[in-house]
Amino acid sequence: MKALKQNMFVISAPQILLLMMLVASSEAVFEKIHVTVGNDIPGETINIHCYSTEDNLGSHDLAYGANFSWDFRVNVWGSTKFWCDITTKHGSGNYGVYTKHVAVYCNGVFQWLVKEKGPCLIMTELGNNLYCQDWKNPPSLL
Ligand SMILES: *[C@@H]1O[C@H](CO)[C@@H](O)[C@H](O)[C@H]1NC(C)=O
Repeated sequence: MKALKQNMFVISAPQILLLMMLVASSEAVFEKIHVTVGNDIPGETINIHCYSTEDNLGSHDLAYGANFSWDFRVNVWGSTKFWCDITTKHGSGNYGVYTKHVAVYCNGVFQWLVKEKGPCLIMTELGNNLYCQDWKNPPSLL
């Protein structure tokens, strides 16, 4: 009985290795992400509504030059995604502002600029070049 109790505190090398791997991977998946969506259409107010499967950030009007920003940590499964519905006089659409696809272009900070032709991401990992997408929907007639 006494020997068994002492054995419970013995940690084997494979267990230490597993523990180290868990600590290393959790630091990667819990990386803090900062997203900013800015209105870069002079003289116009746009509307954005951003959300993930867990968070709804609400509807916001942004004057020219204004930003909407938020921070989050990617979930344990690394599956966190944020989308924004963006509405302007020039067009509108729903865009993935943080997904695994765009994560490779930036290092934790995702700065989107909404332009007349559509939303653009500043690719901080690629010399700050812009990754731009066209509007998915034409301007509303209303
Ligand atoms: C919006 O964000 C950009 C880039 O971070 C910054 O240069 C600009 O000053 C911000 N605008 C406001 C009104 O805070």
